[in-house]
Amino acid sequence: MRQHTSAAAIRTASGPVQTSFRDLTCGDARPEYAGRPVKLSGWVNRRRDLGNLIFLDVRDRYGVTQVVVDVSESPDAHTVASTVRNEFVVQAQGTLTTRLPGTENASLPTGQVELRAARIDVLSTARNPPFPINDPDAEIAEELRLRHRYLDIRREPMQRRLFARSRLVQAIRDVHHAHGFVEIETPMLIKSTPEGARDFIVPSRLQPGNVYALPQSPQQLKQLLMVSGIDRYFQIARCMRDEDLRGDRQPEFTQLDLEMSFVSEGDVMAFVEQMAIEVSRRVAPARLFQEMPFPRFTYRDALDRYGTDKPDIRYGLELRDLGGVVEGSGFRVFDETLAGGGRVFGLAALGMGGASRSEIDELTAFAKRFGAKGLVWLAVEQDGSVRSPVGKFLGEDRARRLVAAAGGSPGDLVLVVADRDVVAQEVLGRLRVEVAARLGLGDATVLAYCWVHRFPMYQWDEAAGRWDATHNPFSGVVPEDEELLVTASGDPTRPDRSDPAGRARAMQYDLVLNGWELGGGSVRIHQRDLLERSFALMGHSLEGMRDKFGGLLDAFEYGAPPHGGIALGIDRWAALLTFQTNIREVMAFPKTQSGADLMLGAPSPVDPRQLAELGLRFELPKRER
Ligand code: AMO
Ligand code: AMP
Repeated sequence: MRQHTSAAAIRTASGPVQTSFRDLTCGDARPEYAGRPVKLSGWVNRRRDLGNLIFLDVRDRYGVTQVVVDVSESPDAHTVASTVRNEFVVQAQGTLTTRLPGTENASLPTGQVELRAARIDVLSTARNPPFPINDPDAEIAEELRLRHRYLDIRREPMQRRLFARSRLVQAIRDVHHAHGFVEIETPMLIKSTPEGARDFIVPSRLQPGNVYALPQSPQQLKQLLMVSGIDRYFQIARCMRDEDLRGDRQPEFTQLDLEMSFVSEGDVMAFVEQMAIEVSRRVAPARLFQEMPFPRFTYRDALDRYGTDKPDIRYGLELRDLGGVVEGSGFRVFDETLAGGGRVFGLAALGMGGASRSEIDELTAFAKRFGAKGLVWLAVEQDGSVRSPVGKFLGEDRARRLVAAAGGSPGDLVLVVADRDVVAQEVLGRLRVEVAARLGLGDATVLAYCWVHRFPMYQWDEAAGRWDATHNPFSGVVPEDEELLVTASGDPTRPDRSDPAGRARAMQYDLVLNGWELGGGSVRIHQRDLLERSFALMGHSLEGMRDKFGGLLDAFEYGAPPHGGIALGIDRWAALLTFQTNIREVMAFPKTQSGADLMLGAPSPVDPRQLAELGLRFELPKRER
């Protein structure tokens, strides 16, 4: 095909996008270029055939331009135009002209002009797509979208989100470089670092019988870079975890991973907070921050007030401990719970006092789904009297005091759960989110960042009968609690749940955004003896430790600076900044709920020769007939 460039180069809003196939993008056509010969390339968004006149809307990433093909002006182009269909890739050449008065399209940035075609070339034909590309509002089954992701990404909503994600990553890079961070890539074939999920493993051909693990995170490597004196590291790091998938979880995801030397908890939090603000402002300038500086909750406070360690603080509806009010009430459920060391928590659902029987039944079923044995409700009438199925047990006076203690006012509905503290908190924490959704609370445009810190170092693993790190086994203990580790059980390899270590709090902090855990990190243990003691407390033998973390333990003998860091989920951040509730919407090629890539067809059976090379054989359970 003959290609020629127009005499005078055109400088467009889209930047330097001129190529031998086009002078302008489909989003750049403006009256200022009228009268010039112009070449455009793109996909046919829509074709209207009026007989002697054919209109082709030609689309690319930048916009849509109308091309007019008039049989009397260019019969050859008209012949070609009459054969094209939606999604054909075409090149149109002609003269850009201003539209006749009355035919402008005010809803298009290019709506003042059109290209009068002298020539149309079909660069590529297209089958009828399985779903409309040109309708951003079309409702399309997600399976179909994932199967033809390349077509889904051709649609405007996906492009908008991927561009936002690209701006997010660019802003992250800019801010980190401006603060002296060095971007360093770490390998994908590593030795496993536990992050609480199962590893994906890769068998080694050169060392039969051995495997690499794909990184669940670059945790050990970034700590080693601190031992190397890199001082400030960051990476846009791909991570792989074989775990059950949810809306905010994929087997492969991306972290903003960073680590800093010679820092305290406060130093890391201060940098990350400033960085998050700068990045958010650049990517989503119209979004308001709920609160700055970001509020900080201890883990305990977060659970007591919000029933979760990732509180959505865009609305109140806080949990209240009602133990004091219900003590000795004579209502069996409350009395037995308190006697058994449990707790009674409640929250006031504002304005829901008129909830119907079926609405309350729904809330009760919801509570039971998350482990509650039941749900007590008290509706506050306009005169302050209380209507409740347990009213007769509590008595008028106590019911009123309970409502007041829960923060309820006339017109509200107070919900109460009695159980072990973790269950009562979890259930009410979820009810809080559910009630807020029903009431339409929580401004979607607001960015409500907050910190949760002072997590317990260890949690008792019932099944294994030992302590386990709540987050990261490398996290340091807060200075006030160091003593607890020292007075830990006499035989550190045989801890028990009464061990004082169970009360130790970690220098661990999570960054939360609108009720999602956006990131987590800690100040690390940088001394070998402390790290070994901590591992021993978690039941690791010396050999076990050497085997798993030998590299890091050795490195710590060669001068390790105090250091700490964090990792933020970029998929989650991009989703929250683009108003999405599923991270798949901001990933170009995500997996389905069952971990499948529907487009490429992965995972798939392996060629027996490949297995033989690796010395592997699958032993699959026999299929049930
Ligand atoms: P953590 O395991 O908390 O910390 O992970 C940090 C952040 O990564 C994101 N994330 C995920 N996003 C999508 N899909 C997943 N399956 C997934 N898993 C985690 C979350 C989470 O907050 N090495 C430590 C960090 C550190 O201590 O510096 C780590 O990986 O947004
Ligand atoms: P029951 O005596 O088990 O029928 O329960 C009486 C009322 O208390 C019902 O409305 C139950 O839903 C509620 N209930 C039962 N157990 C609990 C609990 N642990 N916490 C809150 N409400 C409960």
